[in-house]
Amino acid sequence: MIIGAGSQSYPGWIATQKEQLDLARSDDWAASFRTRPVDAFLCEHVWEHLSEADARLAASLCFRYLRPGGYLRCAVPDGNFPDAAYQQLVRPGSTLAKDHPAVDHKVIYDYGSFTAMFAAAGFDVDLLEYCDETGRFHYNEWSPDDGPIYRSLLLDHRNKHGTIGFISLIVDARKPLQPDQPPRRM
Ligand SMILES: C[S@@+](CC[C@H](N)C(=O)[O-])C[C@H]1O[C@@H](n2cnc3c(N)ncnc32)[C@H](O)[C@@H]1O
Repeated sequence: MIIGAGSQSYPGWIATQKEQLDLARSDDWAASFRTRPVDAFLCEHVWEHLSEADARLAASLCFRYLRPGGYLRCAVPDGNFPDAAYQQLVRPGSTLAKDHPAVDHKVIYDYGSFTAMFAAAGFDVDLLEYCDETGRFHYNEWSPDDGPIYRSLLLDHRNKHGTIGFISLIVDARKPLQPDQPPRRM
């Protein structure tokens, strides 16, 4: 299930838009998933459009409607990426044109704040791509087969010839298996 898909569509994934599934509207989630836990959510450059309170609520809602062992792959702009033009684009309160999608950004995350939010909702969190406090970029091998993130090291067209032009802070937030439940065969 892709949340806030915009124009994204990937084989095997159901694309949803805010009008169908608003991350911060409990009623939307209950109507869609009450009887059908979800295997995986994919959410690229959407979370930064939520207020801090809505982001925490959305993390809890994702957790509630995932099956145990299911995951949310989630990417946002990275507050530690050391590129002035990038930060000017993604930081809340920018002076972009009113119709630019980034003008609606409410929060800028770094790996610490993003991980902490999902951990507080009950998730086990793996960092896939992020920059640390010194701006150093970290990549932990992950497969687009489990959910592509376009604005990532390997997929984004701006990352070519050894130059990192545009990356994201990317996590897999996984709902733990219950202790008495064996791992599901894939
Ligand atoms: C920058 S676009 C990203 C679209 C797409 N995921 C991509 O990576 O190209 C931000 C998207 O977030 C969606 N969005 C904003 N707030 C949302 C919310 N509360 N719930 C679900 N989607 C939301 C917008 O409708 C828009 O499609």
